[in-house]
Parts: sequence; C-alpha cells; structure tokens
Amino acid sequence: MAERVVSPSDRAFAATVEVPGDKSLSHRSLIFAAMANGASELSNLGPGEDVGATLRAVQAFGATWDGATMSSPGIDSWSEPGSPIDCGNSGTAMRLLAGVTAGRPFHTELSGDDSLSRRPMERVAGPLRLLGAGVETAEGGTAPMHITGGSLEGASVSIDVATAQVRSAFELAAVQANGVSTIDSPPGYRDHTERMLESWGRGERLGSTAFRIHPGPVPPGSYDIPGDPSSAAFLWASAAIREGAAVTTPGVSLNPGRIGFLQVLGEMGAQVDGVVSGEFHGDPVGTVTVRGSGLGAAFVPAELVAATVDELPLVAVVAAYGEGITKVTGASELRTKESDRITSTVAMIRALGGGADEESDGFTVLGTGFLEGGVVEARRDHRIAMAAAVAATAANGSVTVSGAEAAAVSWPGFYEILESTWSSR
Ligand code: S3P
Repeated sequence: MAERVVSPSDRAFAATVEVPGDKSLSHRSLIFAAMANGASELSNLGPGEDVGATLRAVQAFGATWDGATMSSPGIDSWSEPGSPIDCGNSGTAMRLLAGVTAGRPFHTELSGDDSLSRRPMERVAGPLRLLGAGVETAEGGTAPMHITGGSLEGASVSIDVATAQVRSAFELAAVQANGVSTIDSPPGYRDHTERMLESWGRGERLGSTAFRIHPGPVPPGSYDIPGDPSSAAFLWASAAIREGAAVTTPGVSLNPGRIGFLQVLGEMGAQVDGVVSGEFHGDPVGTVTVRGSGLGAAFVPAELVAATVDELPLVAVVAAYGEGITKVTGASELRTKESDRITSTVAMIRALGGGADEESDGFTVLGTGFLEGGVVEARRDHRIAMAAAVAATAANGSVTVSGAEAAAVSWPGFYEILESTWSSR
C-alpha cells in the first residue's frame, strides 16, 4: 500500500482549477453512446479507474473507441462477452451495467474487487427481475452478478432508498422493454440518467420523484462532459478550512442532486457563489467559488443526504475546523459505500486528534477549530484518502495517508493538484 505524506500550509491561496470530467456522467455517456447505433463523440471523460471499467465493458459488448469517438453497432447487435466483466472498485459501473445487460438476450457475469464484492446488489437485482430479467447474486446478495436478460416487459416499482444507481439501472433496462415502466423513490438523488432520457423523448417526469420510461432507441450524440462536483468538493473544502483562501472551479455539473455540500458549507459559514453558465444533456453546468471565513457547525438532515452522499467525509473534515457540533443523520447508506463510511469517517477524524462519534445512521463531529497531524488509513476508499489529504492542508502537523493509491479510482493526480492549489497565490 502506498503512503502519501501531506504537509500543512499556512498560506491563504487563491486558485482557479478545472477539475476532471464527472464520473457519474462519464459512466452514463459511455453506456448511452454504446447503446446507440452509430458514432458518438466523447470528451473530458473522467480519468479514474472506475470510468475505465465501464469503457472496457462496453468494448467487450462490441463498441469501439479511439480515444474520442465511440462507434457502436447499436445495442440490438451487442455480443455476449467471452469472459466476466471486471467492474473493479466501481459500484456505479456494476449497477448500471447490470441494468443495461438485463435487456440483452445473453449471459453476462459482472465481478469486482474485494470492496465491491461486499456491497449490496440485491437492491438492483430485485427491480430488474420485475421487468423479467434473470438476475442472480452470490450468497449475501453481493457480486458476482449473473444476468441473463432479454424480452423485458414494462413494470412499476417503488424503492425506499434515494439511490441514483438503482433508479438508473432500472431505467437502462426499462428503455429496452416492450412496454412503459415507472420508478419512484424518496427525493434527493442525482437525476442525470433521467435528464438524458428526457432529452431524447425516452422519459417523462410524473411529479417530483416518479419517472416514466418510454422504450425505444437512444441516438448517437456528442458528450462534452462537465467537471465533477464530487472532485471539486475536495478543493472547495480546502478553501473553506482556511480563512481568506478561495477556490474557483469552472464548468462543473450543478445537478441539484450533486450540490448538497455547497449548502452545508454555506450553513457552516463559508462564502459560496455558484453561477450556471451552460448545460449538458439537460443538466445545469457552471462555476463555483468557495471562500474560507470563520466556520461554525451544520445539521445535515436525512433529506440532504442523497445530494451530499459522496461528500460526507468532507463534511466531517470541515466540521472539525469549525466551532460547535455538526450532526449528520439519516445516512445509513454510507455503510454501503466503498468502505463503511460512517466508521471510516469517524476513524479519520479521531486519527487526527478530533472529536467524532458514530451513530447507527450518521455521525457527529465536535468542531474545535483545529486538527493534529497523524496517520489515516484510507481503507481502500478513495474519498477517505482524499478527505484526509484535505484535512492535512490546515492541520498542526503532517498527515500520512496510508493506502493513498485509492485516489486513482476517481482522480489520478489528485495529491499534486491539491498541493499546487494551496501553494498558489
Ligand atoms: C452514483 C450515485 C451515488 C454515488 C456514487 C455515484 C451514480 O450512489 O454515491 O458515487 O453515478 O449514480 P447512490 O445514488 O446509489 O447512493
């Protein structure tokens, strides 16, 4: 396992950083481009290993990729892969690919690394079975998944968690079915897949959370993927914890299901400015600036969890540098991520001398305004590794991130960008 030592800086920095392409939109763009019959242009794909897993998968089904253009015979001409599809560490790859292969009349095996093989897959298998797909999971409802699909009928399903991955998997299967389908869930999820389907007339909103899928082909297109707000969040947090610092990130996705963290930062007292300047297949895109100023605490209620879900380790870091008690509740989903992120987030804060406690569905952090140096175990979780590096930038000593290589799952080169950001003036 690689160790990375990140040293603090006492500079108030001001930086403008273009963050890598959005991971969620990259997975979806690759899949839709491979479903379409023809050539699609894709630029600014997320550079991480997770997106690489989806790219390799669609090539195994018959799409070709030259680094800029994806050419596909269309989903009806996809071929059965000769070997299992390795989704690596990526829950999004596995769940979205489960959805799209549920519509294919052949057998697909989806496997993953140790961490992915512990995560729940029945939540996605159940709705796909309702459409008529054959889906088997291993004992415990985990990967590997075996999917034998084709001849799907429309169905209606309501799920009790606000998860974009399960909604998207269902939608990617339902768009291949013989009749219309609907899905509903609690609110707050990122609705990228739905905005894309809507833009092609393949879907329709029924109220605030229900969505109807109209089956049919999706067209080839052009995907210039905006920056990833979940990557930008590490830089926003590093500015928030240093009074007088500022970070601007142009061209990031501002999907409402992605920016709960900005609301939390604002509640804690950081100055947050966001301007929408464009769109990506129906998704708002714009520039965000975060400036550090005296920080307090925040309460993150269950309703805000889905829109903040990947940023909650950062909420804990920023909270430790604030004053007062920050509480995150209704977030038991965190236990199903790349690590048990309630346990790993609390362990990270404690390893740096901060005060944090686990709850069954969240955590509390006692903000004292400072953290010490120390050693943080990333637990094979990219977001813990990167949150620990952000904590280091304002700590009283160096932080050693053990298992630092996990960052490559979403952002290879992250540590170098973080260091160049806070050493800029
Ligand atoms: C994702 C959805 C989220 C998020 C994950 C990416 C997506 O998961 O944690 O990193 O691209 O759909 P859930 O919506 O399943 O919580």
